[in-house]
Amino acid sequence: MKRATGRFRKPLDPAALRFSSSLHLDRRMYEEDIEGSLAHVAMLADRGVISKRDARDIARALREIREEIATGRFSLDVDRLARKRLAAEDVHMAIERRVIQKVGPRGGVLHTARSRNDQVALDERLFLRRQTGGIVNGIRALQKALIKKARQYRAVVMPGYTHLQRGQPILLAHHLLAYVSMLERDVGRFTDCLVRTNRSPLGAAALGGTSFPIDRKGLARTLGFDGIIENSIDAVSDRDVQVEFISACAISMMHLSRLAEELILWSSEEWHFVEIGEGFATGSSIMPQKRNPDIAELVRGKTGRVYGDLVGLLTVMKGLPLAYNRDMQEDKVFLFDSGETVQDVLQVTAGMVSSVRVNRSRFKDELESGFVLATELADYLARKGLPFRDAHAVVGDVVRECMEKRCTLQELSLNSYQRYSPLFDRDLYRLLNVETSLKSKRSRGSTGPREVERALKSWERKLSRASARTSR
Ligand code: ARG
Repeated sequence: MKRATGRFRKPLDPAALRFSSSLHLDRRMYEEDIEGSLAHVAMLADRGVISKRDARDIARALREIREEIATGRFSLDVDRLARKRLAAEDVHMAIERRVIQKVGPRGGVLHTARSRNDQVALDERLFLRRQTGGIVNGIRALQKALIKKARQYRAVVMPGYTHLQRGQPILLAHHLLAYVSMLERDVGRFTDCLVRTNRSPLGAAALGGTSFPIDRKGLARTLGFDGIIENSIDAVSDRDVQVEFISACAISMMHLSRLAEELILWSSEEWHFVEIGEGFATGSSIMPQKRNPDIAELVRGKTGRVYGDLVGLLTVMKGLPLAYNRDMQEDKVFLFDSGETVQDVLQVTAGMVSSVRVNRSRFKDELESGFVLATELADYLARKGLPFRDAHAVVGDVVRECMEKRCTLQELSLNSYQRYSPLFDRDLYRLLNVETSLKSKRSRGSTGPREVERALKSWERKLSRASARTSR
């Protein structure tokens, strides 16, 4: 084993190696690691720190290794590498050892003016950059699925809820577009986080920089960064962007979980507003009649996991003295888990939303049986000059009488209405109509059909622009 050199006489204990290895996680970043190394050797050669020939040979080896890993010929597995006398505790070491195996001892110049501390910080930033692109695409796809459903069912009216009690009639499309807005803020959070992610830590070396004449800014430009992280200690010890990324994931999951929760409620036999497509529902192993919303439940469940990732990383970081500490290697558990979970959840949710069939008649029944138009009556009295607070109380009394008589607002006689207020007149019955109620909503961003149509059109335009941008 390689380590029986230098300061150490004994190799790392096999159990300790397995315990401390992060290879099973950080091998996801092999492309980023190689990209960083290619830029680093080119810069070292430019600056005359290493010879052009060494740089060329190392670069060739790095490209070959990329190919070997992609095709499975070089396996990034801790035990297998140890058997080949290539013991490596992380992806950085594994690739470097392979370079030396290919180029010979000269390959060792690759690590000049660099440490795994700035290397891992770099790899994670490159990785986050790539993953953020994937997540934003996933969010866009889900937004599109929601908008398509909203368009498909644009005339469907449903009871809108507060406190899970029927409140007012709303358009289903309006409800769905609320999720589209939430997801838009998520896109904002992920892209905003990129501003801080896109700074290069490379060249900070272990913590104090280096005596070699490196070009940090040039390296940053080559790697597509907007600049460098100036302070070398900060560059290797900070995991803020990882925390930010996971918190963006957690907020996004909160939104996805609320959507999942509504699909679960709405698809229950009690509500039966929607049916989730068979491709996204499961049966029971014992109860033959069942159609369970497992996929939506897992979305809700995985939200807990991503919250755990956020708290996990914050907790790992909170007590660490500057600069690098090995504890920080644990960041990958949380970082990869949250990013991959969000991506999976976005994909499956878009499919599930597309599969949903809406039960129009159920919505209708619910609207007719409840008191969802009570606010219309209060507004009616307010328009006739009664202060809204008093109007609210009057209609409350009316509702109570209806409940006692087990009748609807439409069925209550004008006489009864007028006992509560002389302002009630025959025209009140015209208001007791769901369509009329909806049409009367004209305020900006309301559930009125014209406003909803405007919002739908504007989202459709925005999303088609966004996908033109990403496919370019
Ligand atoms: N695998 C390590 C990590 O992910 C890389 C940095 C190791 N540095 C060190 N000095 N041990 O954090």
